Amino acid sequence: MTVLVADSVSADALQSLRDDGHDVVEAAGLSGDGLVDALREHDPAVLVVRSTKVTAEALDAARGLELIVRAGAGVDTIDVVGASERGVFVANCPGKNAAAVAELAFGLLLALDRRIPDNVIASRAGRWDKKGFSAARGLRGRTLGVLGLGSIGREVVARAKAFGMPVVAWSRSLTPGAAADLGVTRAASPLDLARQSDAVTVHVASTPNTRHLVDAAFLAALPDGAALINTARADVVDEAAVAEAVAAGRLRFATDVPSGEPSDKQADFAHPLAEAAYITHHVGASTDEATEAIGQEAARVIRAYAETGRVPNN
Ligand code: MLT
Repeated sequence: MTVLVADSVSADALQSLRDDGHDVVEAAGLSGDGLVDALREHDPAVLVVRSTKVTAEALDAARGLELIVRAGAGVDTIDVVGASERGVFVANCPGKNAAAVAELAFGLLLALDRRIPDNVIASRAGRWDKKGFSAARGLRGRTLGVLGLGSIGREVVARAKAFGMPVVAWSRSLTPGAAADLGVTRAASPLDLARQSDAVTVHVASTPNTRHLVDAAFLAALPDGAALINTARADVVDEAAVAEAVAAGRLRFATDVPSGEPSDKQADFAHPLAEAAYITHHVGASTDEATEAIGQEAARVIRAYAETGRVPNN
């Protein structure tokens, strides 16, 4: 099969596909018209994407396409309905970057509490301010609210325990028994979670049901000075409500998934919260370990599809 790889994927994983006899075309950084042109030129049976958006226009250009593999957990960058209408399978690689995203969530939590980026910026500007940067709250004994308990949320829970943070968690499917097994307090609702948390980290998928799950009412239920971390998707959080809470000094916010994220990997970027919040560049999954695990999983899915004509269960 011809496999068009529109993003950076583990070289070992791609070599394993070549060893299986597939024609692997590497074209990292494709987007928009570039993707449409590449699909017309190579007519792949399989398309592998990460940041690249797969639109209806791209699908129309992909006459022989059978399978799209998202080298990541979410499939929100792909027109999944359009793909299924055209008989194209969509697969993802859930769980493979969970540790990496959990690590970044904790990095952002520590950064907010200790104002690490502000310390660094001041040093670079030739300023020493031990007094100004000495007001951290610390994490031990603070309650962490974990919204969403999939593979990433669970990795976060494990790290929270190591930091001595009690965890209150909410997910639609969390049963009392599962909460007890995980050693977390089960919140009855997102609002109930907000009322009990000193800091909240968001790990739900983007769906119509989770849009603005963190809204003005949720933010109002948090204690003053709470920290909010978003490494999930922008639309899960009402950023306008966040901006108000941050401006009022009631909230500290860090996000790896800001609204208006460019689809190109390097681009101009302006965001209303760029000064008042910590914004990282959707790099939660960007560790060597996660890239390798994702690449190997994508190769496994493609291999299984080539052998059986079916997409394997995760
Ligand atoms: C994911 O969906 O797993 C991540 O957001 C992947 C990415 O870095 O784009």
